Amino acid sequence: MLGDVEAIPAMLTVIDTDPGIDDALALLLAWGSPGVRVDALTTVAGNVPLAAAVTNALRLMALRRPTPAPRISAGAEQPLVRPLWTAVKYHGADGLGDLPGWPPVDVDLVPRDAVPLLLDAARRYGPDLTLIALGPLTNVALALRADAAAMRRIARLVVMGGAVDVPGNVTGTAEFNIYVDPEAAREVLDAGLTVDVVPLDATRQATITRAELEQALGRTPGPLADRIAAFTERGFRVDLGRGSPGMVLHDPLAVGAAIDPTLVGWERVRLAVGDGGETRRASGDPNCRIARTVDLPRFRTMLLDRLCPADRGAS
Ligand code: BDR
Ligand code: CA
Repeated sequence: MLGDVEAIPAMLTVIDTDPGIDDALALLLAWGSPGVRVDALTTVAGNVPLAAAVTNALRLMALRRPTPAPRISAGAEQPLVRPLWTAVKYHGADGLGDLPGWPPVDVDLVPRDAVPLLLDAARRYGPDLTLIALGPLTNVALALRADAAAMRRIARLVVMGGAVDVPGNVTGTAEFNIYVDPEAAREVLDAGLTVDVVPLDATRQATITRAELEQALGRTPGPLADRIAAFTERGFRVDLGRGSPGMVLHDPLAVGAAIDPTLVGWERVRLAVGDGGETRRASGDPNCRIARTVDLPRFRTMLLDRLCPADRGAS
């Protein structure tokens, strides 16, 4: 019966994430984007330890109440072979700016099955699925180890990570997500998937000022707008302190480029991952595209129009 047929969204996605202030904005962008259905969230240790990443994913779901609610699962607690290096200096000890007053959530209800969930989505949706990875690539590498053929069926993997022709943000040459788990990044880039990498080369161009965010949130006042203003405060403070003109939107740009690939200018390259998390150009066939330029006015408009929709902001 026609009425029973599930409407196919313009983009079906699974988001692997380690929230994180910019991950939170990226999730809000995806949830506010018409035609985008976030089928599942898989969480990974990165910005914060795994329990905090799961807590934050649940907090954001409780706050925003996306419909349909994504499936959610906990993934890797540690990188493939090294100890976890977090980014709590940037994001706060809890990963979202250390604010009181989040909705209470129960991490114990979330299953520890990120790899089976990634594989289930890959097998179920195959070429209709875009996987977006906003943290270290540990879960994605483990899913590839478990069933590379299933993972290779997905349309596209969009990765926030790397610093190709620009300095890194953890070391002089390494970007955080790749630095935390370079072995995973290497396995993912070598796996033969269609990979789009959104590195610091592009994300450092993608900034918003406090005034721009405040003006946008002022259009839909309410608890969601208040909370976005509160948890981004720390991101603005740290980024402005580092000399950026505003908050740097790493993960939101990756989601934006996943939804609308024309927002960025791409270059096909072969990337090799060094042991220190370097992402270097290498000779040989390209293994990914990297984003190099950003249509900033279009990206800013997209983000600011979608972060806090009227029907959610005022509830
Ligand atoms: C990346 O590192 C994390 O701190 C951010 O969430 C983003 O995914 C930027 O280097
Ligand atoms: Ca992230």
